[in-house]
Amino acid sequence: MSTYQIAVIPGDGIGPEIVAAATQVLQQLAQVTSLTFELTTYEAGAATYLKHGDALPAETMMACRQAHAIFKGPTGLPDVRLPDGTEAGVLGGRFRRSLDLYVNLRPIKLYPNVPTALANRQAGEIDWVMVRENTEGLYASRGCGVVASTGQAVTDTLMITRLGTERIVRYAFEEARRRNGKKRVCCVDKSNVLRSFVFFRQIFKEIAAAEYPDIATDFMYVDAAAQAIVLEPDRFDVMVTENMFGDILSDLGGATIGGVGVCAGANIGDNAAYFEPIHGSAPNLAGKGTANPLSAILSLGLMLRYLNELAAAQRLEQAIETAFQQKTIMLNPDGSAQSGTQAVTEAVLKQLVINN
Ligand code: IPM
Ligand code: MG
Repeated sequence: MSTYQIAVIPGDGIGPEIVAAATQVLQQLAQVTSLTFELTTYEAGAATYLKHGDALPAETMMACRQAHAIFKGPTGLPDVRLPDGTEAGVLGGRFRRSLDLYVNLRPIKLYPNVPTALANRQAGEIDWVMVRENTEGLYASRGCGVVASTGQAVTDTLMITRLGTERIVRYAFEEARRRNGKKRVCCVDKSNVLRSFVFFRQIFKEIAAAEYPDIATDFMYVDAAAQAIVLEPDRFDVMVTENMFGDILSDLGGATIGGVGVCAGANIGDNAAYFEPIHGSAPNLAGKGTANPLSAILSLGLMLRYLNELAAAQRLEQAIETAFQQKTIMLNPDGSAQSGTQAVTEAVLKQLVINN
């Protein structure tokens, strides 16, 4: 009879609608398991910035530190900018750094009957997970880029540290052990060009040899990996890579499984974690009832796994899988929900009850 305190951040644009859909699912899941979720909503994002001058108020941050987990919708609006030109409502950098959430875990799994941009790919053929380093790499430069005095040159610096690389590489190998997959970790880098990536690959090899002789390894340059995600996705089980590469390749992976509308993400550290769709707030879709809530609903599965509630996570994932199989959830080729947000949510709710 576990009780979990969850800090909920609805976010901007379509965030509140898909988060509301996901919380309905979570409460239904609570009913069919012996779990209790105490959800408390906190403000953060672009609208919060406009209201209070800070996209992540101290009260929200404090609550997030204390919760068992944080469940977050997409935040940020394209027109709400900081004086330096970057988006004010984007919270990834702040949360990930201040809570030291060094893992960004993004499953790339093709569900049955989902139209994919890849011709002739069936469910089961694409099933891998991105382990993106989440606190350093090129994005360590967030907020720190240097503009030359002429104003005509700007630098951002890519940082790879031993500690940062060791911990993400270990997580990737542990994930390969946990998964019922090929037990293979692919190191994606650009070590043919940049010294920082020679260092990254060297640390990967050290850890693989010393601690994970039972797990197979694979190495790819990031450009070749981009091609392989499209041409031979069945090659992958766990991919580990630098922050920006992981950002880009996880959206590419998303495109192979029906679009980012079905892409869930976990941001995990040793003491905190938050769960969110990997896509943005899509303000043009807000309020229309057409947003696909699956990215948020699937993020719940990652949250349940993090909380070590594996049976509940499997139950949810099975309900989604069956709904796809039975075509009670249908997606358009662009990843949007054919029947709308509420219909997708109800399909999952119904399946949770039937499977009970
Ligand atoms: C992501 C997003 C964020 C990132 C943006 C919104 C700052 O693209 O989580 O993938 O770059 O990390
Ligand atoms: Mg991204």
